[in-house]
Parts: sequence; C-alpha cells; structure tokens
Amino acid sequence: MTLTAGAALAAAERAAPLIDRLASHGFAVAETFFDRDLCRLLEVETAALATDPTAIDAGVGREGGHVTDPSIRRARIRWLDGQTAAQKHFLAEAEYLRTAINQALFLGLFSFEAQFALTPSGGFYARHVDSFSGRRNRIVSLVAYLSPDWRQEDGGCLRIWPSEGAPSFIDIVPQCGTLVLMLSEEIPHEVLPCHRPRASIAGWFRVSTP
Ligand code: OGA
Ligand code: MN
Repeated sequence: MTLTAGAALAAAERAAPLIDRLASHGFAVAETFFDRDLCRLLEVETAALATDPTAIDAGVGREGGHVTDPSIRRARIRWLDGQTAAQKHFLAEAEYLRTAINQALFLGLFSFEAQFALTPSGGFYARHVDSFSGRRNRIVSLVAYLSPDWRQEDGGCLRIWPSEGAPSFIDIVPQCGTLVLMLSEEIPHEVLPCHRPRASIAGWFRVSTP
C-alpha cells in the first residue's frame, strides 16, 4: 500500500519539521501525527494481545535477543504482519517516513520492523537505549501511541534523556496519535509505570548488515 498523492503531500508537510528536529536534537515528538480512526483500529488490535495466545511477553535483549525480565519490562508484544488494512496504512506511513528521512539525512535506512505493545496496569520499561552503538543496525526508533484520552494521572509517560548523562529529562504523555522518533543508539529512555493498560507500536528503521 502506498500513500495517494494528496496523502503524500500532507505527510511531507507533517514530516519535514520532525526530521529537522530528529537531526538537531536526536529525537522528535509530534502530537496528533496519526489519524484518530487509524489509532482506534490499531488500538483494538493491540488490546487483543491481552488474550492472544500468539502474543509474547516482551523481552529485553537488544537486537532481537529475547530474555524476559519482569524487573526491567512488563508488556505483551506481537510483531506487525501487515495483514489488516490498519497495519497496511500504518506501514505505508512508516515507509513514507523512511524515504523522507533518507532523503533529508542520508541515513541509508533499509527496512522497518514494528511490534504492538500492550503494557498492563503496573507495567513499565526501565531506562535503556534501543541499539548498541557500532552495531549499525537499528538506527531510528519510532513509537506511536494508540490509547485514547490518556491523562497525566494514568502514568506511563515516555521519559527521554536528550543525551547519555544529561541531567534533565522530558516526559511525553502517551496520547493516541502522538509519534516519537529517536536515534536508536543515542537516546536513553524509559516507560514510567502505567496505571491503566497502555497501547503503543514501537518500530525500528534499520540499515542492512552484511
Ligand atoms: C521500546 C520502547 C517506548 C514506549 O519498545 O523499546 O522504548 O513509549 N518503547 O512505549
Ligand atoms: Mn526503547
């Protein structure tokens, strides 16, 4: 699925300032980036992880290693397989972003993979970076939030430190429609404990490795 000409133009207008910020700050946040109806459909798919026998407990190993450790992370995940119309639409947006980032920043992003994540009430994800520097594999991380009407008191903020060792952090409310991009090797982040189930998609733009 590709975006229509009109949708591609709208995507270009939304993406350009975001990609500038990714380059200058190492991360970028855009509220209401994703359409409400799309988020609703994706949220239904994510909520189903609670009872889906093919969903798995999230691991914490980087780059696909899979060790579950409830003291580091509690969430259920399932990889997107592109089988539903909503996933196709989401993956088309990600593909658009991939090419736009490559055109602007020459990162040579080659592929995209993404997983639904359902973080239960009480769930969290301790501070981490998504990729070890030097591996040259996951280069840009994407997070899309899907839960509607998220309030400050629901917890579950994404806490970003603008760089390793930075004294201050930025908290992002995981409101449906919000998109976050981060340089996977550079931006430490964590998910604060949630007080209600939290639906999101985390994805990674990768370069090809020999
Ligand atoms: C991840 C992650 C952040 C979030 O899946 O690696 O950091 O806000 N997710 O869900
Ligand atoms: Mn992460």
